[in-house]
Amino acid sequence: MPLAVTEKEDIQALVRSGLPTLTEAEFWICRIRNAAMARAFLTAAPVTTAADLSVHQTTAVQIALSAEGMRALGLPAEVVGGFSPEFVAGLAGDPSRSRRLGDVGPSAPGAWTWGYPRAPDVLVMLYAEPGGLDALRQQIATLAGELAFDVTVLPTSDMGGHEPFGFVDGVSQPAIDWGGTRSPGTPDDLEYGSLITAGEFLLGYENEYGRFTGRPTIAPTGAAIDLLPAAADDPQRRDVGRNGAYLVFRQLRQDVRSFWRFAAEQAGPAGAQGLAEAMVGRKISGDPLEPVLARPLPGVGPAPASLEQNNFTFGADPDGTVCPLGAHIRRANPRTADMPGGRGDILSRAVRMLGWTKEDPRADVVAASRFHRIVRRGREYGESADPATLMQEDAPDPLCGLNFICLNANISRQFEFVQSAWVMSAKFDGLTGEQDPVLGNRVPVPQTEPTSGFSLPSPAGPARRLGALPQFVTVIGGAYFFLPGVRALRFMASEPAA
Ligand code: HEM
Repeated sequence: MPLAVTEKEDIQALVRSGLPTLTEAEFWICRIRNAAMARAFLTAAPVTTAADLSVHQTTAVQIALSAEGMRALGLPAEVVGGFSPEFVAGLAGDPSRSRRLGDVGPSAPGAWTWGYPRAPDVLVMLYAEPGGLDALRQQIATLAGELAFDVTVLPTSDMGGHEPFGFVDGVSQPAIDWGGTRSPGTPDDLEYGSLITAGEFLLGYENEYGRFTGRPTIAPTGAAIDLLPAAADDPQRRDVGRNGAYLVFRQLRQDVRSFWRFAAEQAGPAGAQGLAEAMVGRKISGDPLEPVLARPLPGVGPAPASLEQNNFTFGADPDGTVCPLGAHIRRANPRTADMPGGRGDILSRAVRMLGWTKEDPRADVVAASRFHRIVRRGREYGESADPATLMQEDAPDPLCGLNFICLNANISRQFEFVQSAWVMSAKFDGLTGEQDPVLGNRVPVPQTEPTSGFSLPSPAGPARRLGALPQFVTVIGGAYFFLPGVRALRFMASEPAA
């Protein structure tokens, strides 16, 4: 049985909740000016934990560091280099990573407003109930002092649970197995489930392979070492990663006018919403296009809204005639796990497990979505407008978008895989010449073909294919951070060894 997560007072609150009642928020992108003052701030900062959420919180503060920030604080190479290579290299630290993630053309790091050529050192996230953000900002600014950091503030806005295109956001999330009840690797995994081991989101716990993800553990010497817990898989060493998660931050500008005008041009004002819903793969209300299943899937429910909106797979829609194969949510989480088509009875399962059957040609691209889940914690920014207004000739062009934030324990297997192998892939699920209709950069794959198509399979005949989709989403900044456990944060903020 995997380890249960008992140290909620050491885990930052964002791992447990998106803090939906704290509707005011802003994110500080910080460069360390004075390391000693930055350390003093990181030692004293009132970080809100997952345990604090058991009682009503009116504000919350979360803190994450980049690899640059860890180096600027004077952490030894043994610690910084113990984190994953993609975290150490950074979101924009390698042109081939940028190409794989689709950060090319207008989304290339060279055009970003922050995060390139150097990632920020520290991310401070402030959350408050309506009317409370000004006081929290003042309190945290006073604590940090003027000299610790150079700060750029990224504001957010409350769009009432909708993202700027108008869709209800934050509907589908993996359920973290806090109790350690899930034993991965059994035949049950052949069915899609949303209950995922804690080690997929927190370092220091077993992941979906039943293993501990690599992370910095150090010999128990040095002044601040007692701050750190012992590593569960190697009790002789102290664990810097335990109770921490990698935090991927991408600031995404959304061209909401172009999105809705394109939908109206292609489908007429009456059909625009239906086309937009096909591109996203859900209704604007958050309801699924697929019918919900009668039996609850593991990790879905028990709340009625969760059962109504998340208790579905794509198993009965292999050709995408209900939810298009290339729709955003189908690319971002293809759901139906190792065995497309579901489990079947014991005999048919055994036949398929033993390989005595012709494999579904799509098996490799949709396999095992449980290894590629992310917890999304983004916040919108800017102004939006309603779809009907945006479809008009003289529509406004609001500056808005999503501060996309996700948490995971393995950036390359989770966020980067979802982004590059599914969302940006021009060959996802047997499709050709198209990327995610919402997120695609539309930059042609060299020497091959455009990526600006979108196929709408039809039960009555061949798929209707749209072409020349404009780019609706542009990356304008971003970085990889680590959201440490509170003890690890205080350890990182302690005086470095001479
Ligand atoms: C401006 C950019 C984006 C917009 C407007 C957007 C919009 C949406 C919407 C409306 C949903 C359905 C509601 C929900 O389940 O929350 C959704 C789901 C999702 N999105 Fe995005 N998204 C964006 C960027 C991204 C990125 C960059 C990723 C990851 C690479 C991503 C991954 C997901 C995932 C994993 C789901 C849940 C799929 C499921 O389990 O059904 N999204 N998104």
